[in-house]
Amino acid sequence: MNLDVDRDRLVAEIEELALISEAEPPVVTRIVFTAVDRKARAWVIARCEKAGLAVRQDPIGNMFARWTGSDASSPAVGTGSHIDAIPNAGKYDGVVGVLGGLEAIRSLQRSGFHPKHSIELLVFTSEEPTRFGIGCLGSRLLSGTMAPDAARSLVGKEGTSLEEVRGDAGFKGPLEEVKLPPGYYKAFVELHIEQGPLLERQKIPLGIVTSIAAPASMRISIEGAGGHAGGVLMPDRKDALCAGAELILAIEIAARTSGAVDTVATVGICDVFPGAVNSIPSRVHLTVDIRDTNLERRAAAMRAIEAAGKTIAMKRQVSIREELVNADVPAECAPAIAEALSQSCMKHQFAYVPMVSRAYHDSLFMARVAPAAMLFIPCRNGYSHRPDEYASPEDIARGVVVLAETLAALAA
Ligand code: GLV
Ligand code: MN
Ligand code: MN
Repeated sequence: MNLDVDRDRLVAEIEELALISEAEPPVVTRIVFTAVDRKARAWVIARCEKAGLAVRQDPIGNMFARWTGSDASSPAVGTGSHIDAIPNAGKYDGVVGVLGGLEAIRSLQRSGFHPKHSIELLVFTSEEPTRFGIGCLGSRLLSGTMAPDAARSLVGKEGTSLEEVRGDAGFKGPLEEVKLPPGYYKAFVELHIEQGPLLERQKIPLGIVTSIAAPASMRISIEGAGGHAGGVLMPDRKDALCAGAELILAIEIAARTSGAVDTVATVGICDVFPGAVNSIPSRVHLTVDIRDTNLERRAAAMRAIEAAGKTIAMKRQVSIREELVNADVPAECAPAIAEALSQSCMKHQFAYVPMVSRAYHDSLFMARVAPAAMLFIPCRNGYSHRPDEYASPEDIARGVVVLAETLAALAA
């Protein structure tokens, strides 16, 4: 098979999609079901249709673009990722797997390859947790990991429910229809930027993911007592933000002292009420994102955070309440797909390394319903979730070649 990846067009498409954003270039912000997200979806659908793919969307907005194989009723081979982007993000997270997946399909079409199994590009809804507080919404529902009732009870930060928001975006069917029937996919492969520095540091252009680390997240509410910033003397204070500050540091310590560098914890949101310069904070909401490759170690760190919360609440006379949002298990990637990926790398003499994905991806949930694996390419300085995220055209094209050959091997 002679694959000719159209690198220039792919890079131009990545640039064009980046302009569909709520923020000024080079910043990309694309929150699920906003007008910008809908425009981006329409843009991707038009490109898929131009490539002759049959497009459908399910009731949560997952988009499937199918190149029908000669054995149309046999399980499909899937690839894809997401196009939603957190506030102040870059151009490549998720997008490389979507537009790279599309280019992999187009290059296979140009090569004259005819798949036996259909090859399907999947664009997942809300991989990012920005709007509804939980990541991988589309793949959680596809895999049956999240029950439709749990999804129906989700409310976005602006107070509108998922049901309302998806309806406004034109997705109206019952969420019960999202779950994939057993055996829908023969295999699923996701191309993604590494979002860390290891490939670049080792000067290795490709990573074959062997497992995906397990994410968990909590919401913490701290309730103290507000008051006048001048009138209330220090001994009388129950400042919720000071309690929160102590807790944030305790969270950092819990991760740093877990015994392994694999434990990572982040407080990315700290909402302070009432948020006035001369008013003592009475309420604080924090979010904790905590991940590990080892579930027992992650649980121990979470217990340490809860214990610190109890101590701080007592000492400062505030109430601290923790609510678990999700605590997922890690995924093991399918050795047969990793083998197909490595066969392609070896054929081209591309150096590759097996690696753990420390970021989560929709493949974490796809691995529960299909053999799944991921292919990583480097990103400059390991930067991701920031506007200066960058992957070179050479690295992207190399990833697309290996993805395309792997899809062909799986779909033959
Ligand atoms: C996905 O974006 C993650 O936070 O790992
Ligand atoms: Mn991301
Ligand atoms: Mn991503």
